[in-house]
Amino acid sequence: MVKEIALAQAYRVTPTGLYLISTAFEGKRNVQFAFRALGLTDEPPLIAIGIQADNFSRGIIQKSGEFVVNVCSEKQLFAVDKSRSLSGRDVEDKFVALGLETLPAKQVKAPLVAGCHANVECKLEKELELPGLHLFVGRVVAAHQDDQLKAISRLAGKNFRMEPI
Ligand SMILES: Cc1cc2nc3c(=O)[nH]c(=O)nc-3n(C[C@H](O)[C@H](O)[C@H](O)COP(=O)(O)O)c2cc1C
Repeated sequence: MVKEIALAQAYRVTPTGLYLISTAFEGKRNVQFAFRALGLTDEPPLIAIGIQADNFSRGIIQKSGEFVVNVCSEKQLFAVDKSRSLSGRDVEDKFVALGLETLPAKQVKAPLVAGCHANVECKLEKELELPGLHLFVGRVVAAHQDDQLKAISRLAGKNFRMEPI
């Protein structure tokens, strides 16, 4: 049965994925979970992420002009609950604090998160400021995929393992 829902719930009925956005600036690296991410175009290769204005990651992206979109597999789910109360501005290294392993990126300073379905290295192309949220469009400069590790998708606060049907 179709029922009308509140306007404010609309963004929760649109399925997305689960991502870790990694960043780095002047020797300080950071990482945050995000469900707001979307591949936009293949040529030029563009991908968009939505980052809350108050997040430490927002300033690092603006200052460094770079970020990595790590597409989570089940191997990062253990860190979700711990991440909720943790900002990179309060810890020396949030990767260590969350127990996330990293690999060096090829084209950006921010590290890749190990054990993900994919890691997409981006240079900041455009920024759109919305109320409480910054939409960053990144141009992909390198991308890596492990197709043995299934991506996680997300809908209305729940995680799902992505399998072909
Ligand atoms: C499952 C999940 C999804 C999230 N999605 C987003 C998101 O899309 N954008 C965002 O800015 N924050 C999102 N958050 C919240 C950030 O991860 C959180 O505010 C983080 O502590 C910010 O870290 P920072 O201050 O180190 O940048 C999400 C958190 C969780 C647990």
